Amino acid sequence: MSTRPFWLAGEAATGDTEIQVTNPYTGESAGSAAVPSPEQIEQAVAAADAAAAELAALPAHVRAEALLHVSRRIEERAEEFAALITAESAKPIAWSRAEAGRAVSVFRLAAEEARRDSGELQRLDTDAGGTGRVALVRRVPKGPVLGIAPFNFPLNLVAHKVAPALAAGAPIILKPAPGTPLTALLLGEVLAETGLPRGAYSVLPMPNERASDLITDPRLPVISFTGGQFGWELQRRAPHKHLTLELGGNAAAVVLADADLDHAARRIALFGNNQAGQVCIGVQRVVVDARVYDDFAARLVERVGELGTGDPADPATQVGPMIDEAAAERVHGWIAEAERAGAKVLAGGGRDGVTVEPTVLAEVPADAKVVREEVFGPVLVLQRAEDTGAAFAAVNDSDFGLQAGVFTSDIATAFRAHRELEVGGVVIGDVPTFRADQMPYGGVKKSGVGKEGVRAAMDDLTYERVMVLTGVQL
Ligand code: SIN
Repeated sequence: MSTRPFWLAGEAATGDTEIQVTNPYTGESAGSAAVPSPEQIEQAVAAADAAAAELAALPAHVRAEALLHVSRRIEERAEEFAALITAESAKPIAWSRAEAGRAVSVFRLAAEEARRDSGELQRLDTDAGGTGRVALVRRVPKGPVLGIAPFNFPLNLVAHKVAPALAAGAPIILKPAPGTPLTALLLGEVLAETGLPRGAYSVLPMPNERASDLITDPRLPVISFTGGQFGWELQRRAPHKHLTLELGGNAAAVVLADADLDHAARRIALFGNNQAGQVCIGVQRVVVDARVYDDFAARLVERVGELGTGDPADPATQVGPMIDEAAAERVHGWIAEAERAGAKVLAGGGRDGVTVEPTVLAEVPADAKVVREEVFGPVLVLQRAEDTGAAFAAVNDSDFGLQAGVFTSDIATAFRAHRELEVGGVVIGDVPTFRADQMPYGGVKKSGVGKEGVRAAMDDLTYERVMVLTGVQL
C-alpha cells in the first residue's frame, strides 16, 4: 500500500516521516500517511496567511462551485470513502456509509450558504442622531483557521471544519486525528480538483506533539477543535485566539411516563452503542420515570441484546470495536469500578480485546465515573426519577451540556424541556444523538464553547463589520 501524500497549500507532498495506520479490528495495515516536516508546516501557515485576502475576496459563485464539486465527488466516491473510514477506524461500514452521505450534505449546505451571504442593510434614522445615515453590516473572516478533528468521524467532522471555513472565505489548515488521517487525505485529493487559490487549504497529518507551534501561531487566529477535555488546554495556551471547542459530554435521554416505550427502548439501545458509543452525543445516562422504569428497563435490555456486534466490515454490524485496546480497557475498567460500588449489570459488561459488549447498568452510585465522566463507549446507565422535574434535574446534574433527548408525547413537556435543560440542543421524541448537519451544534459547561452546524460555524468563523454611509436616505 503506498503512502498517501499530505496536502500543503493545495499541493500533494511527502514529508520527513510517516504515520502507519492500523485497522483496530483486524490489526492489519490500513495504509500510511506522509507527515510534514516543521519547515513544511511553516510553509503551509505562510501560504494560508498569504491566501487570506484573496480567499475572502473570491466571488461567492467560485466558492460555492468549489464546495459543490467536493460534495458531488464525495457522492461519486462514497463507497471508497466509507471503506477507508472503516479500514482506519473500525467504524461499522453501515455507519461509515451514513457518514459519507452526511459529508455530501455538509459540502452542499456550505455551497448554498456561500451564495446566501449578502450582509444586511440597517437603517440608522431611528433616532435623530442617525438621520441621513444607513449601515451595511457584512461578515468578514476572523482569519485563517486551524481545524483539529477527532478520530470518531474521520470524514464528517473534518467536513464540518473545512466546508464552513471555505464557504466563509477563510483559509484552513486541517490537522486530522493522528490515528485516522487517511480519509482526510482522500478528501484533500478531492479538494485539489477545485482550483481554489493556493493556500486555501492544507491537510497535515502529524503527531500531536508536532502541532504545538500551530496552536500558538498568531497567523492562525481561529482554532476549531473537536475532541476531549484537552480542548481547554488550547484555551490556556492560546488565550487571545477565537476558539470553537466541541468537547463531548455524558448525554442523557429522558423517558417519561407518557412516552412510546418500545420506540424509546429501540432508539436508546441503538444510539447508546452504535460505533461502540464513540459519539459525543451518544446516549450514556437514561433517566426514566419511576412509573415505567421496570417496564422500560426490560424492553431496553431486550433491544440491546438484539444489536449486531462484531466485524465492522459486515453491513449488519451496528456496534463494532473501539478505536484501540487502551480505550476498551478504560471503558471496561469503569464498568468494573461501578460494579464494585454496587451497580447491577443488566446486559453485557464484558470485553474481548478492542471490543466492549453493549452494556446496561442499573443502581449505579451517582459519583461513579460511568455517570459523571464521558464514557465514550457502549455503556448505558439507567437512573430512576420520581417525576418530570426530578428527571430534568438529573439531566442538569452534570458538568457537561451538549444535547439531551426527551421521550414524551406532551407538547407542553417538550417546551418545558427546552426551557429547563442546560444543553446546546434538546431532541424531543428521540435520542440526544440526533444531529442534522445544518443545525447549530455545540454545548455549554465543560462540553465546550461556540457552535458548529454549517451556518452557525460560518458565523463563528467571521465577525460583523459595519460600514456607515452618510448623506443617504432609505
Ligand atoms: C461528535 O461525536 O462530536 C459528532 C456527532 C455527530 O456529528 O453526529
